[in-house]
Amino acid sequence: MSDNYDVIIIGSGPGGYVSAIRSAQLGLKVLCIEKCGSELNPIFGGTCLNVGCIPSKALLDSSYHFKNASLDFINHGIALDNLEINVELMMARKDKIISGLTSGVAGLFKLNKVNSIKGEAVVQDSKKVLIHSEDGSIKEVIGDKIIIATGSTPIDLAGLSVDQELIANSTGALSFKEVPENLGIIGAGAIGLELGSVWSRLGSKVTIIEALEEFLPMADLQVASEAKKILEGQGLEILLGSTVESAIIENNRINLSYSDNNDKKSMTLDRLIVAVGRKPLTDEVLGPDCGIQTDERGFIKVNEFCETNLEGVFAIGDVVRGPMVAHKASEEGIMVAEIIAGEGGEINYQRIPAVVYTHPEIAWVGLTSQEAESKGINISSGVFPFQASGRALAADETQGFVKVITDLENDSILGVHVIGPSAADIVQQGLISMEFDSTAEDLGLVMFSHPTFSEALHEAALASRGNAIHIGNRRK
Ligand code: NAI
Repeated sequence: MSDNYDVIIIGSGPGGYVSAIRSAQLGLKVLCIEKCGSELNPIFGGTCLNVGCIPSKALLDSSYHFKNASLDFINHGIALDNLEINVELMMARKDKIISGLTSGVAGLFKLNKVNSIKGEAVVQDSKKVLIHSEDGSIKEVIGDKIIIATGSTPIDLAGLSVDQELIANSTGALSFKEVPENLGIIGAGAIGLELGSVWSRLGSKVTIIEALEEFLPMADLQVASEAKKILEGQGLEILLGSTVESAIIENNRINLSYSDNNDKKSMTLDRLIVAVGRKPLTDEVLGPDCGIQTDERGFIKVNEFCETNLEGVFAIGDVVRGPMVAHKASEEGIMVAEIIAGEGGEINYQRIPAVVYTHPEIAWVGLTSQEAESKGINISSGVFPFQASGRALAADETQGFVKVITDLENDSILGVHVIGPSAADIVQQGLISMEFDSTAEDLGLVMFSHPTFSEALHEAALASRGNAIHIGNRRK
């Protein structure tokens, strides 16, 4: 096998592996380099499959079933006694899902004739990559094009040492061996809220300590305020405007000190999760003389087509600007593969959907009300509460609403925001209509099956025009 490739892809997360498969489909000779796993058995899938999206969703689903069986089945007339959670079995189920998916990627590589190698890649220049193996050997490979897809890693807080036992980051928090009685979480972002939900449903008393005064500032204000109300109702204690100062371990417990409006406060915890964001993983991959530029926060600088300042070297996913979400990384991977194969491609960065997998889910795409208003756009908002949905009542899932924001001037859909059952899937329907430049009137003219949760999107689109059927409309 020659050591020359059309494309060398560094990293096999949802950016790298998807890009590798698409490149191979387009007839390119591809090498994907992955540092995880062993020589004979590299582990593909990156953060998403191994320690991110998938394992967290597995635990969210398990804990949701437990919480439902404990608290909500009775509403359906199902009485269960002496329920208990077997954390070991729950973790084993999660691990099985991970290994199924990561070996699935290996299978897809084989099927698509993607070459792969285990090792740590270091980019030397626009064509040359060195691969360092665990045994100390170094192999040189040449790529006509290079794609860096090395992802991100949790940010540490100064003075708090993560041991993955008492103080864990998002990786360690996916493998607790037992349910902690008092769990603290630093950071009320997607990770903090999702992990907080998992352990709270299993019985932990969860306190989330968030430095910002505002809750979920990136979400629509109305959605964020509903989300806070619902999550607090589920038992999560959310302390806003609170900055952690130190965490001291004594007698196998954690004394956490924080300040809230200059008041010094403290609490004692059994476990602490640090979820204060992630940073791009670029330290090892960029050779000292490669010349690839990064910004002040360590992200690799790229243009809208993900090309770096070195011609022919691209970077995608969490190592570059934009939201750190798997679907954005994958779409960038496909775009770059298609550009390299001469087909062209682009991404609409204004329409990257966001989802927080609490229950109910929180999801949105496009502009929030506050963003639209700050741009001086005259908007109309149609809000339909799940309380008025027959399907939601039947399912006992009546919390939340769908909100469709339109431009009053031309009825175009600027944003779709959902908190409620199947929020992620409903937002996706809104996004499809936005991508096809539908107006709210167009969406209102579509026939939706009855009874479905999706009808709430239909009604919200109608409500934005004052025509909702199942709620009262604002006077025009
Ligand atoms: P994040 O940046 O979304 O939230 C971290 C929070 O920690 C911020 O609100 C910040 O104000 C707070 N914080 C920072 N320092 C603090 C301190 N000293 N004391 C108290 N609060 C402090 O980061 P998160 O949740 O860790 O997620 C990392 C990345 O992974 C994000 O980009 C997120 O979008 C992505 N992700 C996406 C998921 C999804 O789409 N469902 C799920 C999990 C992660």
